[in-house]
Amino acid sequence: MDILKTMKERRSTHTFKKEEVNSEILKQIFTYGSYAPTHYMTEAWKIKLYQSKGRHAFIDAIIKSYQRIGMIKGDDDPKTLRMIDSMKDFLMAIPHHALIYFEKDNDPIRYEEEYASVAAFIQNAQLAAWEYDVGMLWTITPYMHDPQFLASIGLNSDTTKIAAVLQIGYPKKVSRDKGRTPIEQKMEIIKE
Ligand SMILES: Cc1cc2nc3c(=O)[nH]c(=O)nc-3n(C[C@H](O)[C@H](O)[C@H](O)COP(=O)(O)O)c2cc1C
Repeated sequence: MDILKTMKERRSTHTFKKEEVNSEILKQIFTYGSYAPTHYMTEAWKIKLYQSKGRHAFIDAIIKSYQRIGMIKGDDDPKTLRMIDSMKDFLMAIPHHALIYFEKDNDPIRYEEEYASVAAFIQNAQLAAWEYDVGMLWTITPYMHDPQFLASIGLNSDTTKIAAVLQIGYPKKVSRDKGRTPIEQKMEIIKE
């Protein structure tokens, strides 16, 4: 295991094989995630892992949210129904959906600390996953800001923040490396 190599070679996964990832491996992946730095050791990350038949209600809640937001029409026009079916098929082709959330702190500094730490948790998990040949896609989508969506999956939007939904499974194809901007272009060294 070479962490530097993995950091460079990990890619976001956009298409997944049907095969599920063994739950022990998923537990390992998130355990590595949890070694992320966490101020006051709050370990704020929480996970709802949707897989197998557990995906149906989650995906239905996403579609209802898209209809409320106006991204999908609410009518029963054949075109709308086709769009819903293809969205369901697309989401059902992803073996695991891990919704990552945390309890909001009213103090804005604490809130930022929690959010930052949860992001570190996610990246740690993505890197660990890559070591197990498991791919992830880190997603942030509009339904995460829909209070009714949160309610429909048993979360209270007043007290809970969804940080991301991770799409997880074995990659069908590894995405190309888009490269990165040389860090010198992002860095200013102040000596005096
Ligand atoms: C906070 C965050 C949200 C992201 N949301 C999405 C998303 O909704 N859809 C998507 O296709 N990729 C999403 N990505 C993945 C980025 O597009 C991806 O990391 C970037 O294109 C670089 O590709 P790589 O991860 O393969 O190096 C997200 C990444 C981050 C960090």
